[in-house]
Amino acid sequence: MYDGEPELGRNDDCWCGSGKKYKKCHLDFDERLQALADAGEDVPHRYLLKTPQDIEGIKRSAEVNIGVLDYVAENIREGITTQDIDKWVYDYTVEHGAIPAPLDYEGFPKSVCTSVNEVVCHGIPSPDEVLRSGDIINVDCSTILDGYYSDSSRMFCIGDVSPEMQELVRVTKEAVEEGLKAVKPWGHLGDIGAVVNAYAKDHGYSVVREFGGHGIGLEFHEDPFVSFTTKAGTGPILVPGLMFTIEPMINMGKARIDMSDPNGWTVRTKDGKPTAQWEVQIVVTDEGYQLISW
Ligand code: MF3
Ligand code: CO
Repeated sequence: MYDGEPELGRNDDCWCGSGKKYKKCHLDFDERLQALADAGEDVPHRYLLKTPQDIEGIKRSAEVNIGVLDYVAENIREGITTQDIDKWVYDYTVEHGAIPAPLDYEGFPKSVCTSVNEVVCHGIPSPDEVLRSGDIINVDCSTILDGYYSDSSRMFCIGDVSPEMQELVRVTKEAVEEGLKAVKPWGHLGDIGAVVNAYAKDHGYSVVREFGGHGIGLEFHEDPFVSFTTKAGTGPILVPGLMFTIEPMINMGKARIDMSDPNGWTVRTKDGKPTAQWEVQIVVTDEGYQLISW
């Protein structure tokens, strides 16, 4: 097969774990994938495609992840520190039998990313960072439950936020919603980035190139990389079962970023202007997509 896996016999058990014969299960599907690969399309390897059992497990993980973000939404306010958010996330997650995925991930020291104002992503919670009226913050939560990964992030406006920054937060959320509309089974991944980018540009914003979404489910970061600076009709095929995040970082000013923070993590806009991000996790289905985490 195109992905290097052996070709099954018609009467073999299907690879998807259904217990059905291959000819009664994924044979037609695999022939479609092979034909697309033969036509020169970029077809995701089948190990990336989530089975119904995988999706069940990942949804249980996402239930915790969504719960953490709901808890943050209820409690975040002026005067708390980003360290307080870290404690909420850690405590809620472990109380629900799960593990915060960022903790110790490639040396990341905390349980959640908290990115305030001009911080693009990977802000590290700190007891010295107090939320003030006028701040905007992205809280990016990722959870491991029974080996299954979930990942989503939301923006919060603290106190009186300027209309310009409120608009950035709103438009970034709408950009994700536009991206979701572009998820069509058997379409291209690049369709998503193209609409997200156009939507941001139409509002005078720019989209960060260096970071984006990613496959997820059995690992924190799987293929494919989900860029938001793509052209429609390009990139991997959106095969049902493919699971990934949509998480554009949209800057009020220029797209360039500054990665020079000595902590090795915190990414800022180069021009110091505000930036926003929302993240959802989805799986492509035969009909469209299903939201997994938000
Ligand atoms: N949640 C981030 C993402 O979307 C991951 C941050 S990795 C960390 O990929 F270690 F910085 F938390
Ligand atoms: Co992510």
